[in-house]
Amino acid sequence: MISKFHFIVICALLAVYCPQLKGQELKWTEIENGIWKASVGESEDISLLQAADIRPKVNALDKLPTANFPFPEDRVKTKIVDGKTYLQFPLTREEQIYGLGLNFKTVHQRGRIMQLHVDHYGGRDDGRTHAPVPFYVSSRGYGVLIDAARYITVYAGTGIRVDADDKPVLRDRNTDPHWQAQPYSDAVEILVPAKGTDVYIYGGATPMEAVQRYNLYNGGGYIPPKWGLGFTQRVPTLYSQEDIAQEAQEFEDHDFPLDFIGVEPGWHSMAYPCTFEWDRTRFPDPKKFNSELLKDGIRTNLWLNPYVSPVGSLYPKLKGLSASHTVWNGIVPDLMLAETRDIFKEHFVQNHLNLGVSGYKIDEVDGFDFWIWPDVATFPSGYSGEQMRQVYGLLIQDMTAKWFKERNQRTYGLVRASNAGASSLPYVIYNDYYSHKDFITALVNSSFIGVLWTPEVRASKTAEEWLRRMQSVCFSPMAMLNAWADGTKPWSFPEVEAAVRDVANLRMRLLPYIYSTFSQYHFEGLPPFRAMNLVEGFSYDQQVAEGELDSTDNPYKVAIKSEIKDQYMMGDNILVAPMFEGEKERKVILPKGKWFDFYDGKFVGENEVITVAPGLEKIPLFVRDGGIIPMRPVQRQAPKLGEKVDLIIRHYGTSEGEYTLYDDDGLSFDFEKGQFTNVEIQVKKDRKGKLVGTISSPEKGKPYSYNKKVTWEFKTK
Ligand code: GAL
Repeated sequence: MISKFHFIVICALLAVYCPQLKGQELKWTEIENGIWKASVGESEDISLLQAADIRPKVNALDKLPTANFPFPEDRVKTKIVDGKTYLQFPLTREEQIYGLGLNFKTVHQRGRIMQLHVDHYGGRDDGRTHAPVPFYVSSRGYGVLIDAARYITVYAGTGIRVDADDKPVLRDRNTDPHWQAQPYSDAVEILVPAKGTDVYIYGGATPMEAVQRYNLYNGGGYIPPKWGLGFTQRVPTLYSQEDIAQEAQEFEDHDFPLDFIGVEPGWHSMAYPCTFEWDRTRFPDPKKFNSELLKDGIRTNLWLNPYVSPVGSLYPKLKGLSASHTVWNGIVPDLMLAETRDIFKEHFVQNHLNLGVSGYKIDEVDGFDFWIWPDVATFPSGYSGEQMRQVYGLLIQDMTAKWFKERNQRTYGLVRASNAGASSLPYVIYNDYYSHKDFITALVNSSFIGVLWTPEVRASKTAEEWLRRMQSVCFSPMAMLNAWADGTKPWSFPEVEAAVRDVANLRMRLLPYIYSTFSQYHFEGLPPFRAMNLVEGFSYDQQVAEGELDSTDNPYKVAIKSEIKDQYMMGDNILVAPMFEGEKERKVILPKGKWFDFYDGKFVGENEVITVAPGLEKIPLFVRDGGIIPMRPVQRQAPKLGEKVDLIIRHYGTSEGEYTLYDDDGLSFDFEKGQFTNVEIQVKKDRKGKLVGTISSPEKGKPYSYNKKVTWEFKTK
């Protein structure tokens, strides 16, 4: 017989544990137009979106159409087991999913298992990467974010539950040729090693609309300063003030574009760990160094890692505010503490920003495990080694971005670790990995997860590889040569020097288009460089070839997928199809509508796969029918404040078209207070069917850097 007391205790225990074992009902709240949030268990007091300090762009979100919750609410299931949160989201048969971090080899993520972990990319898409963003986008037009600063494991359509709604067919491998090692799974299942988390769902009619919501909720994409979109050269380590002045001169002598120079290790009096103090032997007068370069229109960007050297002046101030473990004998400042951030700010503003430094390259905040702090490290703020690993890149981006914002000055820099919520942060991700093809896949994938990525050029074995890499970096968020180790220059291969200059100049000529594309990122949440799977009318379905059963290469008969990972859109109108060393021709998959060659305006195809052989000098570029591309004449640098340049407007194809050309002062954040111009460009047919272009007048008193005279180029004859 159980006593009354025992009965009460048992009932109480059942009340506490049963909901967890049975699963918890999630309560979804529509927090913005088409964005739902739910909290599971106990939310933690550190999250990715908090670390990024996001400020949702509510007005822009309100302008999007309304959206429906993407599946019946009760299809999202959750449990807390063993102190960890289990989540389950439904998948339908035809659905594909994208995102889940900055992947380098794959675009389709359904059927993969990943542990999302900030790390240096190690050559496998297993979740360990520079921006392991726990956000996925569905081809059905919605996105899911798990806002936890944890090593999250995602089973993206792999696990098969006994109670699956849509069960796979039972097959006998002895006799059934369609037997598969990975039978059909109807769910994405996620394991968050914490007692709770916040979850967001972003609705949409298309995958792009879900991505727009994600970016706008994060504050809208960043608009780089105009100079940030010009060419940048990172000089070799240990270069002095004089060497750098000489380098700038060489760019002028070679008539090669240059807007900013990256100063690699050598400017600190000690590096790895860093002092953040100028080395006076190499940089006797940093203020003069910056101002002399600026006279030639060139800005400087400083490399650093955040590990503070014991011989630097910041060390005694930060010692009590740092982690239990060191990195290269430097202390790891706890950036969750306001006091730490204040100490950094005071030093950096005084010694760098006030001397004219325009931005930073923040290195080594991603990994490797063997030298970054271990998970057993503790931080004075109380956050764990794991939590800090997942957010450190975001924290340092946000901290440094704010210093510039407070001065009403835009910056544009580089970072090696990021995470969810980064859309509005002024940083581009790079790494030490160097596969040209995989760099392009990363560029494709960056568009799903609200980050920017540069396929930086460092060195090449052949002139052909050099040119092909230069061509693709000029069609990316940052046109950069990183010569820190190799001392390469754009003209390192004289046989292709002219072709390298041509493509760099083409980028400079396209700045009005590229800048307007970034304004769409900011105001509408549209990523500037876009995966084909985000493009409307791109109907090239995933082709799954059944693998052949084979005792060595494919013993489990795993299906082979084909995915589009080597072409992308730059803005609304230009399709970029980079070529790689050794290729004489390549296939390009054209979305719906007619497409035209960028260079000669000729029709190339429509909703079909074409093969192009453009020769070495050209990167294949295609423009959609009616596509308008605003350009400017060749100039070595982005326009200066107040400078007016001529406008050249190209039109492609036979259809009418329209385009919004965006402009602002190119330097400050005044555009956020309405100090910008949108002019409407239209190409219409007159009564005789001839195409005629018009451009609206810019509003008086608002920044606008184009001359009145416009040259129209109707490229398709
Ligand atoms: C690496 C970084 C390189 C370069 C180098 C300088 O970690 O990825 O781009 O900056 O450090 O030591």
